Amino acid sequence: EKNVTILAIESSCDETAAAVVKNGREILSNIISSQIELHKLYGGVVPEIASRKHIEKINQVIDEALDVANVSLEDIDAIGVTYGPGLVGALLVGVSQAKAISFARSIPLVGVHHIEGHISANYIENAKLEPPFMCLVVSGGHTHLVYVRDYGKYEIVGRTRDDAAGEAFDKVARAVGLGYPGGPKIEKLAKEGNENAISFPIANIDGSPYDFSFSGVKSSVLNYINGCKMKNVEIVKANIAASFQKAVIDALIEKSMSALNDYKVEKFTIAGGVASNTTLRLAMQEICEERGIQFFHPSPIYCTDNAAMIGVAAYYEYMEGTRHGLDLNAVPNLKI
Ligand code: KG4
Ligand code: ZN
Repeated sequence: EKNVTILAIESSCDETAAAVVKNGREILSNIISSQIELHKLYGGVVPEIASRKHIEKINQVIDEALDVANVSLEDIDAIGVTYGPGLVGALLVGVSQAKAISFARSIPLVGVHHIEGHISANYIENAKLEPPFMCLVVSGGHTHLVYVRDYGKYEIVGRTRDDAAGEAFDKVARAVGLGYPGGPKIEKLAKEGNENAISFPIANIDGSPYDFSFSGVKSSVLNYINGCKMKNVEIVKANIAASFQKAVIDALIEKSMSALNDYKVEKFTIAGGVASNTTLRLAMQEICEERGIQFFHPSPIYCTDNAAMIGVAAYYEYMEGTRHGLDLNAVPNLKI
């Protein structure tokens, strides 16, 4: 059988990334240039700055990905690129670069959905994982429960009605003065706190058992802090972090488990930046063991934005015959 080597590019948010992926699951290189230090100054991602930085870095990142993989463009069978969803200016940098290489070298072009990439990250280290399975995608921009019926075949089972789970982490971190990005900082601080100290209820959506709502929890945290100030009660940030984190994890577990049960699926995976949270993983692992469900998750480096996951998704799309033309455009609100 012929090998299929894919060069993948990801630039939907604040990571400029390129990777080389062989036969879908073998990562030959995975280069990420993160802009976090730059955006930290503003407390979040500034779209215009992100686009400019992508332009500065993209060539270098692609060259490095080819170098580390020890391949040249002659060895590349297809170029995979994230074309949505994401920041339009940021996406355009990757898409334009992918189209330019595709045109100059006559290499087939495969546009990839960012969420499909996150889900596909699970294939990298889990050789035995095959669809069908349920995936909980939890990132800064998305909270989706997705039923993966087959490679490239997705059904959205549940989603957030407002904020994404990662967004809630970021907002609560800001409220307690921890800075950006909030997820890892909350997780660290939570280890020193009592998760049962404060109750931060997370709303259920009537009639939609698999949907999430995280916009209220930030208000609960702010109300709690104001209440403490008024009553002159000491504010223990570690307890806030631990209790908030537990509330989010409990909500994620509850909805995921009912979806798994109702869809009669025996394999469960998680993906996205929030999936790198160790407390979340251990909790998921435990509940899945109790229920006899096989649980899979990517390493943290494949949870947050990267191009390896885009290369994996591109491989399965490529094998299914997906090809995009030079009219491929960035689609900021691309549906899965
Ligand atoms: O997947 P990702 O890199 O970008 C998007 O596609 O959105 O996810 C970034 C999000 C941020 O909101 C960040 O705070 C969150 O993932 N995150 C975490 C952790 N690490 C990153 N949330 C909770 N715990 C973590 N350890
Ligand atoms: Zn992402």
